[in-house]
Amino acid sequence: MRVIRSVRPIQQLIKKAKSAGKTVGFVPTMGALHDGHRSLLRRCRRENDLAVLSVFVNPKQFGPEEDFAEYPRRERADKKLAKREKVDIMFIPTAKEMYPEGYLTYIEVERMTRVLCGRSRPGHFKGVTTVVGKLLNIITPDVLYLGQKDAQQAAVLT
Ligand code: PAF
Repeated sequence: MRVIRSVRPIQQLIKKAKSAGKTVGFVPTMGALHDGHRSLLRRCRRENDLAVLSVFVNPKQFGPEEDFAEYPRRERADKKLAKREKVDIMFIPTAKEMYPEGYLTYIEVERMTRVLCGRSRPGHFKGVTTVVGKLLNIITPDVLYLGQKDAQQAAVLT
């Protein structure tokens, strides 16, 4: 399993795989991997030549009252689980890599996100759609795997 922390090298690796005709499956996560993630990873592994997992605790989807700093970070355990599930590439970018100084570009799904839990968590879905949009641009997967646990999120993203 390759662990990659910056955008350019992962793009190069994926470009190479795709030009060799390989399919790419992608599971975006914020880490602290559990059985739900495991089942997504298994399906991703089964259905694609290249299985890519991202672990990024996205600061943009946390509100001021929500504890970004307290969100669990378990890189060692996550790596172990990813290896066991035969992930090919684990992408663990830094916040600076994803949102360089002066970052100003966002993706926002209108209307829908004003209802659902977007009402009580302003900016949350904007953070989610922005980071997933960015990750999709970086990984360019053939298939994206999203958990059903957060049905609102899945509805906004799809
Ligand atoms: O569901 C999550 O873990 C996150 O919201 C996601 C989709 C990885 C975006 O940060």
